[in-house]
Amino acid sequence: MKKKFFGMAAAGVMLLTLAGCAGGGTTDSVDSAAGPKSLDELVVGFAQVGAESGWRTANTTDIQTAFEDAGIELKFSDAQQKQENQIKAIRSYIQQGVDVIAFSPVVETGWDAVLNEAKAANIPVVLTDRAVDSQDDSLYVSFLGSDFIEEGKKAGEWVVEEYKDSTDPVKIIQLEGTTGAAPAIDRAEGFAEVTGADDKFEIVASQTGDFTRAGGKQVTEALLKSNPNVDLIYAHNDDMGLGAIEAIEAAGLKPGEDIKIVTVDAVKDGMQALADGKINFIVECSPLLGKQLVDIVKQVNDGETPEKRIITEETTFTQEQAIEALPDRQY
Ligand code: AHR
Repeated sequence: MKKKFFGMAAAGVMLLTLAGCAGGGTTDSVDSAAGPKSLDELVVGFAQVGAESGWRTANTTDIQTAFEDAGIELKFSDAQQKQENQIKAIRSYIQQGVDVIAFSPVVETGWDAVLNEAKAANIPVVLTDRAVDSQDDSLYVSFLGSDFIEEGKKAGEWVVEEYKDSTDPVKIIQLEGTTGAAPAIDRAEGFAEVTGADDKFEIVASQTGDFTRAGGKQVTEALLKSNPNVDLIYAHNDDMGLGAIEAIEAAGLKPGEDIKIVTVDAVKDGMQALADGKINFIVECSPLLGKQLVDIVKQVNDGETPEKRIITEETTFTQEQAIEALPDRQY
């Protein structure tokens, strides 16, 4: 059973911050006597996952724009979906003595050492989008992002409703996100919890497509050969669902009709495919975290304790709702 702690332990890092305790770090980011810095003096280091999906690109743009608008310097690094690159980036931000580090962890495990280094250097860390599976929640001040288990449940609820009158088995292929990433683990868990209540739902194959369109296409091509009678594909993001559409069409079948598709994200390309009837249902996962992240940074700078867990508000889309929403979709 996975452990995530979202208690009120921001105080741990904040107390260190306010007391200006020596931690052996090289940073001058915390100076309790001087009080808050002005916004144009603040420096934030952001270690992004990569550029694997439309969601990620929108997330990067939103965060960079929000910091520019706030007049706060943002140092940005792209880890190309590799944990070791992200750890290197965080270490470099510690060395540079940034005021706050924010990052979206590629995978859930393996962060304690580098987060302890940030803590020793008195640099508060904010998790955006994805969680870490650490036992020590004093290693970060706040975690801002979606409830991925809930997203998986919403996808499962649509499937249960769609097949409520069917007594035949429903064969499902699951396209998983990056192995070990919080959204891949949690979206699988939420979906299994809901669909697992009825044995007619059978996940006949489940493989990672690494949250990319190419991965979704490649995995679907292979899995369709071994599972030609599949009824539905549940993809952990739109990009893999869009890749699956290409594979289904290449196999001479109609996505959305011969094989139904449910995805998560609701980026423009996904919403267009939903409007066109090639995807059947999308659970939204909002990448627009920039303004909330800026607010957390300001709170930390002002010596306030941000909320430990901030859950992003999200909805779901049917075809009709996608057609209505598309003209104003920001990303
Ligand atoms: O962590 C959020 C997920 O990462 C998005 O659903 C996916 O598109 C991205 O790559």
